[in-house]
Amino acid sequence: MYMYVNSAPIKSFVRHYPGLKRLASSLAFVFDIDGVLVRGKRALPAAKRALAILDGNNRFGIKIPYILLTNGGGVSEVTRCNELSEQLGVQIKPEQYIQAHTVVRSIVHKYADTPVLVLGGRGDTLRHVAEGYGFRQVYNTLDVLAWNPSVWPFHDLTMEERTSAKAADFSKIPIGAIFVFHDPRNWALDIQVMCDVLRSGGVIGAPPYMSECSRRPVDLVFCNPDLVWKSEFDRPRLGQGAFKEAFQAVFKALTGTTYPYVQLGKPTEQTYRFSETVLGRYAGGNSSLQIYMVGDNPESDIAGANAAGWKSILVNTGVYDPRQGPPKHKPTHEAENVEKAVLWALEQVLQL
Ligand code: G3P
Ligand code: MG
Repeated sequence: MYMYVNSAPIKSFVRHYPGLKRLASSLAFVFDIDGVLVRGKRALPAAKRALAILDGNNRFGIKIPYILLTNGGGVSEVTRCNELSEQLGVQIKPEQYIQAHTVVRSIVHKYADTPVLVLGGRGDTLRHVAEGYGFRQVYNTLDVLAWNPSVWPFHDLTMEERTSAKAADFSKIPIGAIFVFHDPRNWALDIQVMCDVLRSGGVIGAPPYMSECSRRPVDLVFCNPDLVWKSEFDRPRLGQGAFKEAFQAVFKALTGTTYPYVQLGKPTEQTYRFSETVLGRYAGGNSSLQIYMVGDNPESDIAGANAAGWKSILVNTGVYDPRQGPPKHKPTHEAENVEKAVLWALEQVLQL
């Protein structure tokens, strides 16, 4: 594609238009994943073509830096990068990849020696991810159920869950914070244990059992606000944001109030500032980049990019469906898919 311009070999073209190289080197992309590059386990065809263009398959033979920024998670960054490299057919490096809970690395110092509950994902995968970030006392709700099955009588631990559970006496452990890293697999168990921890000030089942919640000794952090997201199924699926709504509804029914929490993930400013640092570093320390965000979710991708002062491109391959009217957050541009989005941005910047 475009290997020649005006029949002049590419390299000489760039040599003759040094301004172009400067222009291109100020350009960078941030790609959402679900609904933009993949749908569940399947890579979207336009994704491979789009990344190939940025990896040098363009009329100038220039490489343009990009990172991936997802509200997904549930495994380590290295594991997910290996999966994505397989799916997309290009190597995705951990230094160009940010998932919902990666930003927790920037606050882990506050909790390193505090007992914390980490929710979401399969089995104890996220315990190891959290330990990799620097948490030293990490528990999950399966550990609590293994300690006392009567905490939630409606789930019998599987052999795999029992094996991965960490032995602990939760009547003696003051949980200092709850982190919802990824979409919980057992909403009922997790909501029960969250209410137990938050209503008793950290020690599960400890008296006094707080009815009105004046004291808030336990921090609560959600890493992904998405109410819905797009996977293989034709209609959007409930996300971690829906779990948060369910928890708060139950907590309010029990106590009369919702529980205050910290929100991370797109569209939060914390996640976009964190991404800018990662992108700047990945682009060789360039701090004055012109950033184009490509996303499928107006509430997270577009709202966050607009607020960060980036350019935003909304594609129709995921959550957003143009048949349902204009998006709640207006993007800089709308494109059919990620390849069209990249070509449009290149045209804007390189004035083709
Ligand atoms: O659970 C993931 C989902 O909420 C959205 O992921 O890649 O579209 O930000 P992504
Ligand atoms: Mg998405």
